[in-house]
Amino acid sequence: MTPRVEIPRLRLNDGRYMPAVGIGCWMGRVGEGEHVVRMVKTALGLGYRHIDTASNYGNEASVGRAIRESGVPREEIFLTTKLASKDHGRVAAALDRSLEKLGVEYVDLFLMHWPQTLLQNGEALQPNESPTLVETWHAMEDLLSSGKTRSIGVSNFSIKTLTTLLLHALIVPTVNQVEAHPCLPQHALLAFCESKGIRVTAYSPLGRNKYAGEDVDVVRIARQRGVSPPCVLLSWGVQRGTTVVPKSEDKRRMKENIEIISLTEEEMRVLDRMHEKPGMHRSVCVFHSEALGGSCFGWTYKQLGWDMGVGGVVRAGSE
Ligand SMILES: NC(=O)c1ccc[n+]([C@@H]2O[C@H](COP(=O)([O-])OP(=O)(O)OC[C@H]3O[C@@H](n4cnc5c(N)ncnc54)[C@H](OP(=O)(O)O)[C@@H]3O)[C@@H](O)[C@H]2O)c1
Repeated sequence: MTPRVEIPRLRLNDGRYMPAVGIGCWMGRVGEGEHVVRMVKTALGLGYRHIDTASNYGNEASVGRAIRESGVPREEIFLTTKLASKDHGRVAAALDRSLEKLGVEYVDLFLMHWPQTLLQNGEALQPNESPTLVETWHAMEDLLSSGKTRSIGVSNFSIKTLTTLLLHALIVPTVNQVEAHPCLPQHALLAFCESKGIRVTAYSPLGRNKYAGEDVDVVRIARQRGVSPPCVLLSWGVQRGTTVVPKSEDKRRMKENIEIISLTEEEMRVLDRMHEKPGMHRSVCVFHSEALGGSCFGWTYKQLGWDMGVGGVVRAGSE
């Protein structure tokens, strides 16, 4: 049996540490509920110490309740929430509202969920319209002195949008949370973030729209090492320096997802190249794509810095 490695804590550029595996709290639908409380409490009971939620998930009160009922001291938990696009013009008030719902005095990480600003009617502002992503970032920088968030970061940023932000940022984001799994490894974005000291958190780390654990190589490696396919996928994510936030409501799968092993160089190489196999390359945009004319929440792929091919599949070489 392959020995598991203890869940590492990865260093952020502000000197704080983030557990490499967290429990994702996007439940597939917006809203509070016992299912959220149950999932987060179970996760904490299994040893998870990193929780990823968002204002947009509409479940911060349930997450907060689970933390309190778990009996795990608040300071042992790394808690992330995210700024909704409709709140770019009122960043401080949005964080206050999240803290109130969560019932905590601070979060460990506050992320700008998307670079786009949305109006209350859901319409998106164009990149040069105020508040721009840079203005929103400056408002997030101002939050740090309040102690209401320990760290700040971004989500769904590409090399293009990060470059715009870094040109004006006084504080470099600690984290960029993006979709990343062997079918969308984000090699170029990861290298860029590393060069700037930004930690990547991988969302949908088991594969989006297509569960990556059924791939023949993943299954083979899992069999050879006596572990589950998700263990292989998540271990690859952690070993390449990303933190991963798988979501599961099932206790057995939650347990599986927190088991991390050390992969060989050859196993890492196979997983690094898995997206090159025909039909394997999947992108974040599959569910946003053609019906919306090649845009996502009001910005074109070009504005977002996503080099997309037909059907929402990222062109080979754009990785
Ligand atoms: N920043 C963003 O814009 C953004 C976008 C998407 C997601 N996220 C974050 O990332 C988290 C994870 O992403 P995600 O939920 O899209 O994808 P995911 O964690 O990769 O996959 C979740 C799905 O896989 C199943 N699953 C979990 N563990 C499994 C296992 N060991 N074996 C087989 N199936 C398993 C889950 O079902 P069961 O629950 O039934 O186990 C669920 O259907 C979210 O919860 C959220 O916190 C952030």
